[in-house]
Amino acid sequence: MKVAIVGGTGPEGAGLAVRWALTGHSVVIGSRDAARARATAAELGGRAKSASIIGMTNRDAAAAGEVVVLTLPATSLAAALPEVKDGCRGKVVVSTVVPLTFGGGRLFTPPPAGSAAEEAQRLLGPEAKVVAAFHHIAAHELVSGQPLDCDLLLCGDDPAAKATVAELGQSLGLRVLDVGPLANAGPLEGITALLATINRRYKIKNAGVRITGLLG
Ligand SMILES: NC(=O)c1ccc[n+]([C@@H]2O[C@H](COP(=O)([O-])OP(=O)(O)OC[C@H]3O[C@@H](n4cnc5c(N)ncnc54)[C@H](OP(=O)(O)O)[C@@H]3O)[C@@H](O)[C@H]2O)c1
Repeated sequence: MKVAIVGGTGPEGAGLAVRWALTGHSVVIGSRDAARARATAAELGGRAKSASIIGMTNRDAAAAGEVVVLTLPATSLAAALPEVKDGCRGKVVVSTVVPLTFGGGRLFTPPPAGSAAEEAQRLLGPEAKVVAAFHHIAAHELVSGQPLDCDLLLCGDDPAAKATVAELGQSLGLRVLDVGPLANAGPLEGITALLATINRRYKIKNAGVRITGLLG
């Protein structure tokens, strides 16, 4: 699959990029700055020992990808998504975005839409098939190179789009669970606030989610 990562110069996008390149996907790193995207792509390509990571502006990356992954800060969606809207039309768009605010009284701070994923859907319009996923896999786990010890929970309104994202998750060795419509993205994103709190409270770095009670 050709995966475009908007905001792919940050740790989460870079970590996903290397993992996907290692499993044979072709990756396009997007940035506000084309030169930064190219430099990051060259560095990540070295890590993945793969020539299949290239860099370009967010707008060009979204246009080039078959699937578009958003790894942007939640606070940047309103400014960043209008320029990728055309490129996302008709495509699967994966939102990894978690609206967390550090240093205030409340860690999980969703937008009025209810979640960052629903905010992305609103900004990209109904032709983008937004799926919320990958919120519970920290960047440092992605770069560790170790097997990912967690489930991938995803939600969205388009069954075919969810199947595509499930394929991307399974290619990373993850068991994938469909947790319903995009209206469930708020609770899904909120789990990351719990994981971050557990990490801090128990002085660990890798709290994760695994669902019990399922066969297989
Ligand atoms: N880090 C994690 O462990 C982790 C885990 C799960 C989920 N997430 C979620 O994944 C998303 C990305 O996380 P991250 O840690 O990689 O984020 P980040 O480093 O803060 O941002 C990622 C990229 O977004 C671009 N960006 C930053 N501010 C922007 C703005 N105002 N407008 C447009 N683009 C901007 C930057 O790229 P350019 O400067 O190159 O444009 C930056 O490299 C976040 O929503 C986070 O909640 C992160």
